[in-house]
Amino acid sequence: MATPILMENPLRQGLFADRVPAPCSLVIYGASGDLTHRKLVPALFDLYEKHLLPASFSLIGISRSKISDEEFKQGLKVALKESEPQLSDSLWNSFSQNFHYMAGGYDDFKTYQALSQMLDQVDQENGTSGNRIFYLSTPPNVFENIISNLGAAGLAKEEKGFARIVIEKPFGHDLESAQELNQKVKEVFKERQIYRIDHYLGKETVQNLLVMRFANSIFEPIWDRRYVDHIQITASEDMGVGSRAGYYESSGILRDMFQNHLFQVMSLVAMEPPVAFEANAIRDEKLKILKSIRPFNENTVYQWAVRGQYGPGYLSGEKVPGYREAEGVNPKSNTPTYAALKIFLDTWRWHGVPFLLRSGKRLPKRTTEVAIQFKQPPNLLFKTNVSDLSPNVMVIRIQPDEGITLKFETKVPGMSMEVRTVNMDFRYGTSFAEGTSEAYERLLLDCMLGDATLFIRGDEVEAAWAALMPVLNHWETTEPERHFPNYEAGTWGPAEADNLLEKPWRKWRRL
Ligand code: BG6
Repeated sequence: MATPILMENPLRQGLFADRVPAPCSLVIYGASGDLTHRKLVPALFDLYEKHLLPASFSLIGISRSKISDEEFKQGLKVALKESEPQLSDSLWNSFSQNFHYMAGGYDDFKTYQALSQMLDQVDQENGTSGNRIFYLSTPPNVFENIISNLGAAGLAKEEKGFARIVIEKPFGHDLESAQELNQKVKEVFKERQIYRIDHYLGKETVQNLLVMRFANSIFEPIWDRRYVDHIQITASEDMGVGSRAGYYESSGILRDMFQNHLFQVMSLVAMEPPVAFEANAIRDEKLKILKSIRPFNENTVYQWAVRGQYGPGYLSGEKVPGYREAEGVNPKSNTPTYAALKIFLDTWRWHGVPFLLRSGKRLPKRTTEVAIQFKQPPNLLFKTNVSDLSPNVMVIRIQPDEGITLKFETKVPGMSMEVRTVNMDFRYGTSFAEGTSEAYERLLLDCMLGDATLFIRGDEVEAAWAALMPVLNHWETTEPERHFPNYEAGTWGPAEADNLLEKPWRKWRRL
């Protein structure tokens, strides 16, 4: 095996000194997969370049493909060159010198015994001190198998160093399977060893929600039912399902985007101030929000939940096929590729304030944002109808063009009292020299540091599933109200979504 990486780390003395993790080995299950190539290794490379990987670090990739160490590394290098075209051989060689590969079945106990030996050897040769992270980036149907085998091989024990497990989404297919998976993983690992990923929490702007709310004193006093009319959370994508039809057919938009990403963002927007900036304090508050979601019932599911599926249409002038035409999709599929939900949180702070959540594939553009719309002024002073005044809106752009915009009314210069909406803008791109980091970079680093703040706790996952189950059950046992497909690719989803708005001053934001 290669010699240990003992690089000089200029940051160790400086600002980020406390952000350099202890030596460790990262074991990735599903190492020949897309996520490893497109996200995990590029994120590790970015950390390496910023001197934020531990001085001694090893990566062991495991999957079923029978390939050599060299072939494994070559595959990673080719993928990394997509995002790092300038990558030199010498830089790659030093980054990857402690990368290894093991082929093996996920249900074959011998693989785990061999892994255990390999990890001991790596510890000795590379000084990784018995610290291990097991990253499950496989299809979810093998999660339980891997977890119990890791347990049986004694790899969850923390005798020499730490043992952590990172579990990719989807965490369960419904409430019952999520509970089962939680139980299985907790039989082997303690909750503090478990890191359930939601990559949205690693996004810079999602983290900024906490800073914006709790490092300023001007927003919090108006952050409630007295001043807020409603909140819109949108995650729109122009992409279709691509090559993921197999997964998507059994998942659909609610499982894919709402149970995790949108509910997490909503929790951060709505939660009470935590007592400390610490993993459990923050997760306690998010959990309260998820538990406060007013349960959907037979009637409200019709009124507050809208589903859609895209048909053929045009995006950027190009004709694109409908969902049912995608390879691997049942031509009669009723899988929703769009959903809009009206959610009420039964809390003192948010009583009566609708949270309007929407997400869809093949919408006109890729945008994720939170928009807080404030109430109209109570009294009319100017010769304008109150309804002609645009409401004050605070838009937190999660991606792209990350930043915050505050929309407010102002006087148009001149002799009359004409009122017009203007924007006050903060953009990450122009305010900071540093670029925003990729979500996985932050999350991998936090896991190595043992900071679970940006990971989801088991009870949060279950609360999110519990809130969504009535809608999922209803949609899976009834025909869509209007036959699918009910929106054209390249449009903003089915017209029925407008019914969720109810009041004339509420409109879906045009993005
Ligand atoms: C993933 C979903 O979790 O998030 C995908 O499975 C979706 O369907 C993706 O495209 C969106 O992530 P991002 O970071 O591109 O907004």
